Amino acid sequence: MDGVTDAAMRAFQGRWGAFSYAVTEFLRVSETPIPGKVFRREVPELLTGAQTETGLPVQVQILGGDPVRMAKSAQTAVKVGATAIDINFGCPAPTVNRNDGGASLLRYPCRIREIVQAVREAVPAEIPVSAKIRLGWDSIDPVFENAAMVQEGGASWITIHARTRVQSYKPPVFWAQVGKVREQLAIPVIANGDIWTIDEFRRCREETGCDKFMIGRSALANPILSWQIATELGLTHEAQPDFLWETLFKEFLLDLHAQMARKKEKSGFRSQRRLETQGPLGQGGVGGLFRLKQWIKFANNHGDFPHFEALKLTQTLEEFFEVLAQEEQRLPQGTSETLAITG
Ligand SMILES: Cc1cc2nc3c(=O)[nH]c(=O)nc-3n(C[C@H](O)[C@H](O)[C@H](O)COP(=O)(O)O)c2cc1C
Repeated sequence: MDGVTDAAMRAFQGRWGAFSYAVTEFLRVSETPIPGKVFRREVPELLTGAQTETGLPVQVQILGGDPVRMAKSAQTAVKVGATAIDINFGCPAPTVNRNDGGASLLRYPCRIREIVQAVREAVPAEIPVSAKIRLGWDSIDPVFENAAMVQEGGASWITIHARTRVQSYKPPVFWAQVGKVREQLAIPVIANGDIWTIDEFRRCREETGCDKFMIGRSALANPILSWQIATELGLTHEAQPDFLWETLFKEFLLDLHAQMARKKEKSGFRSQRRLETQGPLGQGGVGGLFRLKQWIKFANNHGDFPHFEALKLTQTLEEFFEVLAQEEQRLPQGTSETLAITG
């Protein structure tokens, strides 16, 4: 997710072994193909076998409307270490759509095929190429043709966010429609959209008939959900991770810190100041705090996070954790479970 699931978050989410893979935030191909250094900067996992330090494989996602530049970018991504390429035909952001990218392509099925095919042909056969789409621009019907084009273009699988572009993130999700498309395709379909709880996962599974799923926002709102789903799918036999929000946030900051230290090592003097102001715990920086606030907003809007009001006005990381500790104390003895992420 753009602005959210960067390398630190990907590493963090990979910790419990629940996910099969992560997809990067989209990298936009505009006037020129994306150079290798941009891929390396945005996807530092490319330096370590396209996996997070926690062993989670990472796919590189590109977005754009020009087949030649998309193909060239994919080729470069592979040259610098990408092991899978995903193409974004789902982004609803107006600036992206005005510039011929993301969901705007859903109105041009043949162009979808052309782009997928160009990318497919540009990279070695062992590199999977996949695509992510929505059901359509303003109707759920074009999904049949668009998904068929993705398949014809040679994609190894397709992920379908069960909404239209016009809906953006508004309900409802049309899981049943994903199920109908799945029946018509030979390639695997990954169902996506509004899986917030294990019960919703079960309904989505039933309505789509899929056995592969992608979750986005709920991975932040309810970080234990990935473990619950993986357990239900028989993908993990690990015991339920036992954690508190505080531990979780601190672990995430450690990943963020490690990520920034690596960037600092590689970047010169120019960006040093920016990195310092973004330094996480113990460095007095505000960047880590910004990221935590972004996270608790997700957790508050979409999950069961009880401390948002108390934490939202904190000014430093130290204050953030002080208030969080007070919040924990404020809860009566024996209810500390409410601080854990519940399923
Ligand atoms: C802030 C934000 C950024 C997103 N960025 C991307 C992106 O870069 N690439 C992508 O394929 N989907 C992106 N998405 C869409 C999600 O991957 C997902 O398809 C959508 O949120 C529905 O799934 P969910 O209900 O599990 O979150 C983004 C969503 C949000 C909320």
